[in-house]
Amino acid sequence: QSLVRFYHERVVDHYDNPRNVGSFDKNDPTVGTGLVGAPACGDVMKLQIKVDDSGKITDACFKTFGCGSAIASSSVATEWVKGKQMEEVLTIRNTEIAKHLSLPPVKLHCSMLAEDAIKAAVKDYEAKRAKTVTSDSATP
Ligand code: FES
Ligand code: FES
Repeated sequence: QSLVRFYHERVVDHYDNPRNVGSFDKNDPTVGTGLVGAPACGDVMKLQIKVDDSGKITDACFKTFGCGSAIASSSVATEWVKGKQMEEVLTIRNTEIAKHLSLPPVKLHCSMLAEDAIKAAVKDYEAKRAKTVTSDSATP
């Protein structure tokens, strides 16, 4: 109850009932994994996406070792990336997540983790894909 006084309802909701908690197999070629840390506090967030051939994110999950705002931010991030194209999710800004959750300024870096984790997941997927394409074309 005291939490509700300091945090917006949505933070508490995403903290109490985080969406999409879990892990995908990071060796699955359709999975991109973003693992990022916040230097400010040492919290760590892992966000994973599952991507289809058209570059659409069909599923997402996360694991966050961090504060309530970081957990809420990653939960929102997984909700927002699902069903979108990879290029589209690269435009998600931490400020939008912070605004959605009404995070106070000192908690901005927590939402930054989510933005960074999305970008890192996309990058990982693309790097993996580039490798598969290269090794495919290398086989006679
Ligand atoms: Fe959950 Fe908006 S309250 S994504
Ligand atoms: Fe570090 Fe929130 S206090 S992620």
